[in-house]
Amino acid sequence: MMGSVPTPIRDVDDPQIAEAVARLRAGGLVAFPTETVYGLGADATSAAAVAQVFAIKQRPATNPLIVHVENVTTALRVVAAWPNEAQHLADAFWPGPLSIILDRRAEVPDIVTGGGPGVAVRCPNHPLALRLLRAFGGPLVGPSANLSGQVSPTRAEHVRQSFDARDVLVLDGGPCRAGIESTVVSLREGQVRVLRPGPISEEDIGAALGVSVARVAAGSHDASATLASPGLLDRHYAPRTPACMVEQDELGGVLASLRGRAVVLSHVEVNVPAPHVRVAMPASPREYAAGLYSALRDADALGVERIVIVRPAAQVASVGESALWRAILDRLTRATISLP
Ligand code: TXA
Ligand code: MG
Repeated sequence: MMGSVPTPIRDVDDPQIAEAVARLRAGGLVAFPTETVYGLGADATSAAAVAQVFAIKQRPATNPLIVHVENVTTALRVVAAWPNEAQHLADAFWPGPLSIILDRRAEVPDIVTGGGPGVAVRCPNHPLALRLLRAFGGPLVGPSANLSGQVSPTRAEHVRQSFDARDVLVLDGGPCRAGIESTVVSLREGQVRVLRPGPISEEDIGAALGVSVARVAAGSHDASATLASPGLLDRHYAPRTPACMVEQDELGGVLASLRGRAVVLSHVEVNVPAPHVRVAMPASPREYAAGLYSALRDADALGVERIVIVRPAAQVASVGESALWRAILDRLTRATISLP
């Protein structure tokens, strides 16, 4: 029956992996699916290959890249040391949506870390990404495969819309399951700090490390943490159409104030009079996250005056759910402008 069957993770045949590896070895770029979003892969040991990633994404040189690894052994090629805390997190969450920042090895090209002392490592939980990493046999940088500042790609066609096929080979693994980017946690300087909220919560991290969530949260999201992750300073994940976030009871007034049409993304029933259009978002945070970037891209393509997002309220069942809503709200805040 339509709609009720989950989309299976599609795979590619070996010749495609072989072609991808040949491209990477030649310093080229290969986009690959992960459980979060599609990544733009390049040989993390080649400064020239990584420079191409920055150029094609138009990414500021100060914004470091996450290094994707097949396992801990490959991570050890880029980090200076592997503390017990890193092992606990890898045991609990790898392969999975957690990027761990540690001191870098000197051999890591400066361009990968934006010249900084830390390097982020992550083992993605996607069979195609893992096959690619294994076949390549080394670490790959993997920023989200979108132009800098735009919405991350959760389908192969999103990547194809941003880059020329001559520049980027795209491995199609179907839609990404999680839909928002990995949690970024720093273990540098003896602190545990979440620099980017994501599918793995501060509670999850505290539990895996046997420390209180207060200890994790204390170092997170503050000014120094923001500076430690330069990518988080930018307005990010934004569609081209101006987008705003409203409370449910503000919606009518905002729609009435517009001259043109709006697309309203709402997880609750709301009254959206013509000519505006309502896009129903799922009420569960997992499904909301999985569908968010596609919905933003589709809304953007309609060429309306405004994208209006009804703020997901915190009427939530469990700690795990509220943590995922927090990560979703982080992305929504970055995608939207504040109304005057
Ligand atoms: O889920 C993900 O993490 C996806 C998939 C493809 O793996 N990748 C991703 O990469 O979202 P990107 O480059 O779009 O976002 C990486 C974030 C940026 O905010 C960046 O500033 C931060 O991680 N970051 C990376 N390396 C860092 C480092 N060494 N120190 C501080 N922040 C770092
Ligand atoms: Mg990105």
